[in-house]
Amino acid sequence: MCEILSFNKSRMIPKWIVLQLLEACNLRCDMCYEWGKNGAYRNKTKLNSLEFDIVKKIIEQCAIAKPYYELFGGEPLLYNRIFDVIECIKKNGSRVDIATNGTLLEKHANELLESGITRIWVSLDGDKRINDLQRGIGTYDKAISGIKRILALRKNDIPKIGITTVVTPTNYFNIREFYLSFIKECRIDHVSFEFQNFATYECYSKYSKFLNENFNITETNSARGFVRDISDFDDIDCDKLACDMNDIKNFSQKSGIKFFNNPSTIDANNYRNYFKANWNDMLDKRNKCPFVYLHAEVSASGDVIMCHTLQDLNFGNVNKEDFLDIWNNKHCAKYRRLLRKEMMPMCIACSRYYTQTEGHS
Ligand SMILES: C[S@@+](CC[C@H](N)C(=O)[O-])C[C@H]1O[C@@H](n2cnc3c(N)ncnc32)[C@H](O)[C@@H]1O
Ligand code: SF4
Repeated sequence: MCEILSFNKSRMIPKWIVLQLLEACNLRCDMCYEWGKNGAYRNKTKLNSLEFDIVKKIIEQCAIAKPYYELFGGEPLLYNRIFDVIECIKKNGSRVDIATNGTLLEKHANELLESGITRIWVSLDGDKRINDLQRGIGTYDKAISGIKRILALRKNDIPKIGITTVVTPTNYFNIREFYLSFIKECRIDHVSFEFQNFATYECYSKYSKFLNENFNITETNSARGFVRDISDFDDIDCDKLACDMNDIKNFSQKSGIKFFNNPSTIDANNYRNYFKANWNDMLDKRNKCPFVYLHAEVSASGDVIMCHTLQDLNFGNVNKEDFLDIWNNKHCAKYRRLLRKEMMPMCIACSRYYTQTEGHS
């Protein structure tokens, strides 16, 4: 594990930092754990956002380790100092990716290019009809115009453009056709497929109990946003999905496009186990999670968390304490110790669970 840690005066520095700049979003995508039908933010009366000065302090403090940054939201292009954040990260020698729904890409194309951003991940879930069904009317056209604008403006193939797709019951049957024809239309660099993360009510309850017993946490709203009835996934034809993913993978590799997929083992039974919530039988099952040493996330409310999608378990708040003090505190140490013994019941709903340690590099 030592090679993935960095130290500064004997304090560990994460090598991969996700900054959730804000909670606000201009879309309401159906499957989204934040703003979707059960989404954790749906009923919030006040939406959080990180202070720029705090973000800057974190970036400067961690500069020695040159972490890789990912900018998230909500929709990060709605953050009013987004280009200052990117500039600050670049000035401190790190790579930075942004994940966006693409609707504001065209508007900000010039500033994004000037900012020196390393890579833009655009969320697209299928062709115009399917994407707009899942993400809202008009979102496909806006994202495509944005991608084309960036491709036309960029020099030396920077920033890289990736397409990221959440595979759901709404779009699974269409992704092969969409992807193969899309590639002919736009010369993208990377592609990533994430199966919809979800949890059963049972594993959500066990997780809530775990947090209560070990960390005295009583509110688990964020985790609640993942709960789905597994019958939602009954109609997914896993044989077709596995064939299609193999085709996309082969096609990408032949076309020089980097292919990422979670879960990473393409196999119809593996997929069936995923969507039936038989996670213990999956070929991608993990017994340990390296991300608790490697990866930190600062949520829009300032909470420091380790697991991208499990925001209820926070170890401190950057509005009150120093980021690296939190990352090295006794609560983080306790969590790492507990996870060395066994994974948490909700780990399977964390998008990092299926990710390789190099992530999207
Ligand atoms: C929460 S969004 C934030 C960035 C931006 N708003 C966007 O949509 O790209 C980050 C990523 O999570 C994906 N996502 C949303 N709901 C998901 C789910 N239930 N399972 C897996 N990924 C999901 C989105 O499609 C997007 O690629
Ligand atoms: S655009 Fe992103 S954050 Fe907004 S609802 Fe869709 S997936 Fe969620």
